[in-house]
Amino acid sequence: MTRVVIDRLVKQFGSFRAIDDVSLTIEPGELVVLLGPSGCGKTTTLRCVAGLEDVGSGEIRLGDEVVSSTSGSLPPEKRAIGMVFQSYAVWPHMTVFENVAFGLRLKKTHRSEIQDRVHRVLELVGLKGFGERDISKLSGGQQQRVALARAIVLEPKVLLFDEPLSNLDAKLREHMRFEIRELQQRLGITSLYVTHDQQEAMVIADRIVLMDSGKIDQIGGPQDIYRTPASRFGAEFVGLANVVAATVKAPGTVQTNDGLLLECATTHFEVGSAVDLLFRPEEVGVFAEQPSGQNVIEAQVERVYFLGNLADLYVRVGQADWRLQLSPPHLWPRGEKVWLRLAPGDIRLFPRKAS
Ligand SMILES: Nc1ncnc2c1ncn2[C@@H]1O[C@H](COP(=O)(O)OP(=O)(O)OP(=O)(O)O)[C@@H](O)[C@H]1O
Ligand SMILES: [Mg+2]
Repeated sequence: MTRVVIDRLVKQFGSFRAIDDVSLTIEPGELVVLLGPSGCGKTTTLRCVAGLEDVGSGEIRLGDEVVSSTSGSLPPEKRAIGMVFQSYAVWPHMTVFENVAFGLRLKKTHRSEIQDRVHRVLELVGLKGFGERDISKLSGGQQQRVALARAIVLEPKVLLFDEPLSNLDAKLREHMRFEIRELQQRLGITSLYVTHDQQEAMVIADRIVLMDSGKIDQIGGPQDIYRTPASRFGAEFVGLANVVAATVKAPGTVQTNDGLLLECATTHFEVGSAVDLLFRPEEVGVFAEQPSGQNVIEAQVERVYFLGNLADLYVRVGQADWRLQLSPPHLWPRGEKVWLRLAPGDIRLFPRKAS
């Protein structure tokens, strides 16, 4: 198993910094997901690791070997890296077997060994018996499995995935997440996986690297990223968040611009600072009668949407609308007065964003 180290990586296109000082270690056998909005540098990072892009500065190491640095770069075919892309990039005029065998033939592997390895890998990806099938007669999900088989048959030290499931329908996408994860764990191949789908990232990742404009915003397990976002960007990009403008009145007490006094667990902001409070829709308790406890707030029901497993509830609090989510769903009547309760520990504070 191989460790991948990305060390102070910078990549420019002309004067534009697509990757701006990114450092990241992927431990042997680990699956790390790069998550972030379009254009934040996920694919570029992956392409640098693959050797498809020269690096501007910094270096990339696979195990003990420096494969990219300003003094030189090992070509992609010498890196023992497998790649799986969004477009399956399977060869349409070849059978499944030939698609998977292609890389082995290039390496002049012995025929009988090719037979063995291709069949073993097809079985691994759930395509046993499909060898002689025309690629064009496979579904999208099956084609993506061929692409996966083609990558792992070469026994790479590292697997790179770039949005491999984006072309599949929602059900299949969900199913393939588990398959890829299970296979990656079984084979123990160190993997870097790019997606902009936060649920996919949470399901599949050992750790998530959240990227924003070429920089790392936060690295952590799925729960850390969701529960304790390092920045306002992270809090808003992963999951839903209500944002309320406020001022710090005392350590652990804030006052919203609507005049609501709230207790919060964060105490390191200076008294008088302008802050934004963020909390998630499912973190707010909703009650018909005034409950006891801290941060009990009066509100009025504006709109309710039944979403099956939960209800989306919009309430009016002073001048603001808050979005709440109730699971199991409870369909509060419109116009009803309700009581909300927000635990101090669920309120995250960030410096007020300049608007
Ligand atoms: N060859 C290139 N020449 C110039 N700019 C580039 C090149 N490749 C990427 N970029 C720019 O670098 C930035 C990062 O691109 P990248 O493809 O890494 O984004 P991404 O995070 O993968 O986005 P997406 O989710 O849309 O795939 C973008 O602003 C992109 O326009
Ligand atoms: Mg991309």
